[in-house]
Amino acid sequence: MGCNASKDGSQPKAIGKAAEQPAAAATTAADADKKKLPHVAQKAPYKVELKEGETYYWCSCGLSKSQPFCDGSHKGTEFNPQAFTYDKPTGDAYLCGCKNNKAESKPYCDGTHKNIDW
Ligand code: FES
Repeated sequence: MGCNASKDGSQPKAIGKAAEQPAAAATTAADADKKKLPHVAQKAPYKVELKEGETYYWCSCGLSKSQPFCDGSHKGTEFNPQAFTYDKPTGDAYLCGCKNNKAESKPYCDGTHKNIDW
């Protein structure tokens, strides 16, 4: 599973089209979401099975509909997916869903979500 948006760059997404919309329609839910990034996709980690040696793209903006992985929704934002190769034996992992984990922990949950006053 990966971020195909970075491969062809041609996926039309509502987020990336905001500048093409008439000024009156520029304030959309997606625009509002972009101003509050990263979006809290979930206030807890995602338990996923990862395969040893496989590369994944973790969503860092929180807008992906394929959480916790990138679906290209970050286009037009300052966020980019975090690529990582799983170097442990195939099995369950906990990827951050709150998108507020520490930089050195990404893409994994480091417990930060427990300390945020939601
Ligand atoms: S879900 Fe983000 S730190 Fe746990």
